[in-house]
Amino acid sequence: MNADTPTTSSLDSFLIEQAQLGLLRFLTCGSVDDGKSTLIGRLLHEAGQILDDQLATLEKDSVRHGTTGEEIDFALLVDGLEAEREQGITIDVAYRFFTTNRRRFMVADTPGHEQYTRNMATGAANADLAVLLVDARHGLMTQTRRHAFVVSLMGIRHVVLAVNKIDLVDFSEARYEEIQAQFADMVKNLGFASIKAIPISARFGDNITVPSHRTPWYSGPTMLDYLETVDVSDDTAKPFRMPVQWVSRPDHTFRGYAGTVATGSIRPGERIAVASSGVGATVKRIVTMDGDRDVALQGDAITLVLAEEVDISRGDVVTTGAAVAVSDRFDANLVWLSEAPLYPSRSYLLKLGAATVAGTVTRILHRVDINTYEHGGADTLKMNDVAHVSVTLGTAIAVEAYAGDKDLGGFILIDRMTNSTVAVGMVTRVADTGGNIVWQKQEVDKAARAIQKHQHPATIWFTGLSGAGKSTIANLVEQKLHAIGRHTFMLDGDNVRHGLNRDLGFSEADRIENIRRAAEAAKLMVEAGLIVLVSFISPYRSDRTAARELHAQGEFLEVFVDTPVDECRRRDPKGLYKRADAGLIPNFTGVSAPYEAPINPEIHLDTTSAPADVLAERVVEELRARGLFAT
Ligand code: ADX
Repeated sequence: MNADTPTTSSLDSFLIEQAQLGLLRFLTCGSVDDGKSTLIGRLLHEAGQILDDQLATLEKDSVRHGTTGEEIDFALLVDGLEAEREQGITIDVAYRFFTTNRRRFMVADTPGHEQYTRNMATGAANADLAVLLVDARHGLMTQTRRHAFVVSLMGIRHVVLAVNKIDLVDFSEARYEEIQAQFADMVKNLGFASIKAIPISARFGDNITVPSHRTPWYSGPTMLDYLETVDVSDDTAKPFRMPVQWVSRPDHTFRGYAGTVATGSIRPGERIAVASSGVGATVKRIVTMDGDRDVALQGDAITLVLAEEVDISRGDVVTTGAAVAVSDRFDANLVWLSEAPLYPSRSYLLKLGAATVAGTVTRILHRVDINTYEHGGADTLKMNDVAHVSVTLGTAIAVEAYAGDKDLGGFILIDRMTNSTVAVGMVTRVADTGGNIVWQKQEVDKAARAIQKHQHPATIWFTGLSGAGKSTIANLVEQKLHAIGRHTFMLDGDNVRHGLNRDLGFSEADRIENIRRAAEAAKLMVEAGLIVLVSFISPYRSDRTAARELHAQGEFLEVFVDTPVDECRRRDPKGLYKRADAGLIPNFTGVSAPYEAPINPEIHLDTTSAPADVLAERVVEELRARGLFAT
């Protein structure tokens, strides 16, 4: 056994120590003037975390910038940014760490200003508890309602209602009771496991660390007492679960599954099962950077070596508990973070546990007004919107409801082009149809049809501005292929819009759906063994990427029909540019709507350099060179 490995008894004491000194992650929320920063500053001060020189600076600053007269303004300690000092508001999430004799703390100070719901969601992402501040004079505000909602949405189950500025209501017990009762009523459906109201004055220190003699009617704990002792542990012992981040195979003698333990613990000799297949195996070794271990706990980065050979790949989850649902469909609560709106049908990257897959919001079930908790309809989501949505994935992965498992129920959406996080989501329900609609295996399959037709089926995707020459060139390519006995089909934007896509216009949302359907149709035709020529403007890169991802490697070739907009305008075969320039066609690509040119197309055709027929011949040559057909 490795010398560093804790024995069972030292492990127990280690666990006890962890529980005693356990980290409490909490966040504070309140509106701008509720005194959040003052409270945190006061806690840091009283917990002995402020160094003397900081205190001296603070005293100086308080006289210059402070809003507390001669008192030390603890908010200045927390509102570190100069801009914030000048404006008197907190504008970003700030994390601070402090330790008392009884506990370690990590506190996220989140902005109270309305437009920063997304910052709040970020700050709440890993917190165990939330301190909601209200000003005793004003009582509950719309903000309080919103904060309580976002906090519950993010899975926080413990809240403290800090009834601040109790000095300004003459330490009135009646006022405190009134606010407390209103709050209990307001959050009764939000599923909090514990709610604690504490009357405080962050500015004067009442009930922060020392019980205030000015609130003799209050016999509960002080703020710090409460934070030091509150039990936020999850009483249900979780089964062991670990999403496999990668399969480690340095040589043929070793095969291990590396990941971070999401929940529970594991020891050699225990049985695990693979979530996707249900196949079981016995743990042989737990390997870490520091040698083998007798036990691995939540949060440990380990490599599992199994006694039996089983099929496990990246993104699979190994567990000792009930089988984890593996699905490609679920419903979720979503907080939209991006300035660019959400469009249903658009393909994003979805990151959940160790898996990153294609993810699409197929439907907005309802938008939630976070001020009133009312439900309403929505076609799209704007920054800070919260909605209940249905999601589909490109590949089935292990997924659970967030309420039961934050690790396999929390996810983010990433924009494919900008790589930025555009949403955080919490799974509410995993669709069981995921397993019920099975892919019907067909005996005559793509390979059989391909052999019969003596060709490799593929989608040739022509993209470019209206009037760039896509259809002209695609038509010529099809004629040439037909002439040499190839089996083809052509999907043309204008034509498909007469039937399958008759219900769609030219808004961004409609175009996304237009391309999604075209891509799905093309994919079916590839299954049928055909060489499919698709000619759509398809102005958005992310939608073309999504179309590509529907296809197997090498079965999707992007052809950029590159014609400058001025040249299209000059040619104007349908007279559309003339009308668009006159303002008669809204959202006209290249005029009043964007076109995102391909960055790395398989084939790039400069239509000003050669006539259409020559360019078409080049495409045919390229297809031949790529082995789509022999002759
Ligand atoms: S896409 O942008 O959604 O891919 P699609 O290729 O289906 O467009 O259709 C484009 C054709 O629709 C154009 O060639 C043009 O004839 C016609 N059209 C009508 N309105 C517009 C518009 N606002 N923008 C671009 N094309 C339009």
